[in-house]
Amino acid sequence: MNYRSIAIDGPSGAGKSTLAKRLAQELGFLYVDTGAIYRTVGLAACRRGIDPSDGENVSEMLPELTISMGYGEDGLQHMFLDGEDVTTAIRENEISAVASKAASLPSVRDYLMEMQRQTAREHDVIMDGRDIGTVVLPQADLKIYLTAAPEARAERRYKELLARGQQAELKQVLQEVIERDRRDMGRKTAPLKQAKDAVLADTTGLDLEESFQLLLRMAQDRFGMGECGNE
Ligand code: DC
Repeated sequence: MNYRSIAIDGPSGAGKSTLAKRLAQELGFLYVDTGAIYRTVGLAACRRGIDPSDGENVSEMLPELTISMGYGEDGLQHMFLDGEDVTTAIRENEISAVASKAASLPSVRDYLMEMQRQTAREHDVIMDGRDIGTVVLPQADLKIYLTAAPEARAERRYKELLARGQQAELKQVLQEVIERDRRDMGRKTAPLKQAKDAVLADTTGLDLEESFQLLLRMAQDRFGMGECGNE
């Protein structure tokens, strides 16, 4: 059986996970947040006191890790590191930068590639990340490059952190967003970029509902689905 796949790539804070999760629910696809997988590697390095940019030490660590993904009764993706559910731990703000550094390493990207491809071989998926349309699933049925201006993304991230009860300053969040963009777009291996055959969705002036409707229309156009996700 051939499963369908939607690749959603774009910079951090563009709303990928919120929108992809909702779109997956609407269409009955499995939502795969690939950033969570990189965050799990980042967390592992952090806990072991390994510099996430240190290719040699991180590569040595990888075979010692057991990383898996599971879906709870809530239908949400949970990440496990050596059997421990780290779904919440990987969302700490400092893990964002650590994950971005570890994600620049070719060994980390190779290590996680098969896990992502295997999931797409077994399910209809909406996979979000940075290199899904360009590297992980180059044959994806629909590729969306989801972006927004850095200021808009920083403001969303800032509100998200406050809502989670975490301390944050807008100026610093913006700096972190710009720094992560620079690293994610500038790295040698699988840099963040729009695939040639990806459609652009710029959500700068759009609220969440408008952004969702934009993506839903793109999926309906591609798969010929009716209002309720039926073909
Ligand atoms: O989407 P996120 O912020 O949870 O991702 C965390 C980091 O992982 C991000 O800085 C870039 C990296 N990443 C990546 O390089 N490739 C992916 N497919 C997903 C995430």
